[in-house]
Amino acid sequence: QVQRTLQLIENDSCMLPRSINTMSDKWNMTNAYDWTSGFWPGILWYDYENTGDESVKKEAEHYTNCLADLLNPEHPGDHDLGFQFFCSFVNAYRITGDPYYKKIALAGADKLAAFFNPKVGTILSWPHMEKEKGWPHNTIMDNMMNLDLLFWAARNGNNKDFYRMAESHARVTMQHQFRPDYTNYHVAIYDTVSGNFIKGLTNQGYSDESCWSRGQAWAIYGFTMVYRETGNKEYLRFAEKLADAYLTRLPDDYVPYWDFDAPDIQNQPKDVSAAAVCASALLELSSLEDNEAMSEYYWQAAEHMLNSLASDYYRCGNQKTAFLLHATGNMPAGYEIDASINYADYYYIEALHRYKTLKRINTLSEKQ
Ligand code: GLY
Repeated sequence: QVQRTLQLIENDSCMLPRSINTMSDKWNMTNAYDWTSGFWPGILWYDYENTGDESVKKEAEHYTNCLADLLNPEHPGDHDLGFQFFCSFVNAYRITGDPYYKKIALAGADKLAAFFNPKVGTILSWPHMEKEKGWPHNTIMDNMMNLDLLFWAARNGNNKDFYRMAESHARVTMQHQFRPDYTNYHVAIYDTVSGNFIKGLTNQGYSDESCWSRGQAWAIYGFTMVYRETGNKEYLRFAEKLADAYLTRLPDDYVPYWDFDAPDIQNQPKDVSAAAVCASALLELSSLEDNEAMSEYYWQAAEHMLNSLASDYYRCGNQKTAFLLHATGNMPAGYEIDASINYADYYYIEALHRYKTLKRINTLSEKQ
């Protein structure tokens, strides 16, 4: 699919493939400033890592470099800097070891950290929503994903404050952004000055009190990562609760509808992006578990998800040059519904990569 996409798009520009609408086979292209811009270079890096194809590496380098301009002070940025720099530059550094990628990714972390409000203890996700919707300090569940960049920067750079900020963000989010049944509020609003939590609501879910599927997947992935980075079992136990809330609400094929609580659910569009994010998260959760039965349970759930995503119904195959069909980006705003979207593909490829790597480790340890 990567080769076919490369043939379709204009490779020497900095426009990146973002999504393909239901009835189309043409990519909607976007620029480096879009929140999804890291996913296409990230897919290329994973592809290169798995195939060793030098021509794919060249493309990965080209599209990764396009994102360096996110550091331009004229680009204000927001929490999405985490997605943008992590998927592109951190993968590039992990795979090549080239210090240039590390330098840019560390500068990206600096820029992201500037949105941390010490009074609240979280990163401000969407500065523009302060004016647009009258939301003061807002933190969205997606923002949990961006802690990966801060933790990585704390390990690879000189600013140990990043670790403290990331841990604080996770702790405050854990305290305020979940209901007693461990489903998430997409958005938490805090008083910018006092730091007090005001309310939870939604931006992309069905309603303020419903559980937006991708939000729950972001949360499972995020708290699993926080456990990986801190070793604090409180986060492991919390990630388990979030995963269980997600798993008990799934339909038979393990691919959720776009919101777990949308009315007339069986006629709602699915969201493969939530399934891909969750599969990748559960593989990591399984590998970190301190309980063997739970580890097996999460592994099997992830395997079930990946089998579904690889089936004719969800896989693009020859229909389109993306990897997956049936993702839902923003249902309330009416766009990218039942579409192919680059972040669904990115986390699908990441999950397959984790599956392959972890399966090899498991096989080796069984042999020993
Ligand atoms: N981070 C935006 C989304 O998940 O749609």
